[in-house]
Amino acid sequence: MSLFRESSQGAWGSRWTFVAATAGAAVGMGNIWKFSALAGANGGAAFVVVYLFFVVMVSLPVLIAEVVIGSRGRANPITASRDLAREAGISKAWQTMGWLGCIAGLVILSYYSVMAGIGIAYIDEIFTGQFKDLSAAKVGAAFNTLLNDPKQLLIWHSVFLGIVMLVVSTGVERGLARTSRIILPVFIILLLIVVAYSMRIGDVAKAQAFLFDFDWTMITPSIVLAALGQAFFTLSIGLGAMMAFGAYMPDGRSIAGLLSVVVLIDTAVALLAGMAIFPLVFSMNIQPDAGPGLVFIALPYAFGHIEHGELFGGAFFTVVALVALSSGVALLEPAVAWLVERFKFRRIIATVVVGLLVWLLGFAALLSFSHWSDIRWLGMTIFSWLDFVSASVLLPLGGLLIAIFVGWRMREEAVRDEFYRDSGFIFVLWYWLLRYIAAPAVLVILLVPLYQYFLGADV
Ligand code: TRP
Repeated sequence: MSLFRESSQGAWGSRWTFVAATAGAAVGMGNIWKFSALAGANGGAAFVVVYLFFVVMVSLPVLIAEVVIGSRGRANPITASRDLAREAGISKAWQTMGWLGCIAGLVILSYYSVMAGIGIAYIDEIFTGQFKDLSAAKVGAAFNTLLNDPKQLLIWHSVFLGIVMLVVSTGVERGLARTSRIILPVFIILLLIVVAYSMRIGDVAKAQAFLFDFDWTMITPSIVLAALGQAFFTLSIGLGAMMAFGAYMPDGRSIAGLLSVVVLIDTAVALLAGMAIFPLVFSMNIQPDAGPGLVFIALPYAFGHIEHGELFGGAFFTVVALVALSSGVALLEPAVAWLVERFKFRRIIATVVVGLLVWLLGFAALLSFSHWSDIRWLGMTIFSWLDFVSASVLLPLGGLLIAIFVGWRMREEAVRDEFYRDSGFIFVLWYWLLRYIAAPAVLVILLVPLYQYFLGADV
């Protein structure tokens, strides 16, 4: 599966295409919806600082490791991990890594599709000016009405998932990856404009204090776990999706350098989204921990109050939907690729089978905002459980396995091979971070909640 090796038009073209495609899979609802919701619910700065720390010290090394597996294995995650395990002479059980990843991808896609669907619903509402001059309370109420309307949610969830399935079943995702070259810059420019507006009409001082005034004592184990989960989620790592992008690696480029750029873009988008959303949140007197919908309340309000807000806001949510689409495709693809390769399914059949499963899970997720809001276990709804299990458990677990596999099980020369353009120092630094920081840190963080739960201990 060499996508760009055959088609690289000049060094710059292939390099930027690789970065854009990889960043396209990383940037998505996670950066806008999830980042703002988590930062809001977890005390702002405490979350943001721990999150940034994990991104650099844990996620970037794991992202590089994941792409290394892909560029060496050149297959779907399950096959790639099996083949590389064979190469390293270790147990075939390592393909569980691929398994776990496919499942995590499908679980994430289920509720991801619900949120992206809401984004699509807003395109039309904003274009048609339904938020024009609405008060903050009314915008909030409109969002709640939508959440409590399972029929609407189901329609939009189906629309989003349907498009994702269409792209995956026709196998045009290579084309889609290339379109990230256009979508991503447009998205960032629109986001910058929203930030500028938000700074003008929002409460910047409060937002800044909330997001960046850091105090050690605010950090708790649950914030640490949430930040770790988000650091994995936002970079799309831990489930093998990024392995596919290993095959995009243009020849003769620095793997660490290019992926650092991807991380920079993804982090910048999250922080910009925070700077767009929180000044509005504070000026509208919404509680920052108001739940999943900060972005869907703050931004429509802003678009309702600025000149040409309908056009601009409509365009903004259109681009958000496109950015979410490239993530959705990367979430569905590993499982489909596996069914096709392993069981010789036709691509379309594989997509329908897996897609149906995701659709049902998403259906359950969206019902937990209304009819099923009372179905809870340990206080969490179905939606929260899907989110928690995938983002806070499966992704870090997948990341841990990737870190151990590449850091401790693969032969060092085999790994070194994929780094032929990076200086010895960069390789050694990365290898060290992966082995001694990333892997142990994830292990400890994953064990703490278990320890708390089973021993009832207060850590
Ligand atoms: N990073 C994506 C986002 O921020 C979501 C995501 C998580 C993802 N894991 C993934 C996307 C794997 C593609 C593949 O929106």
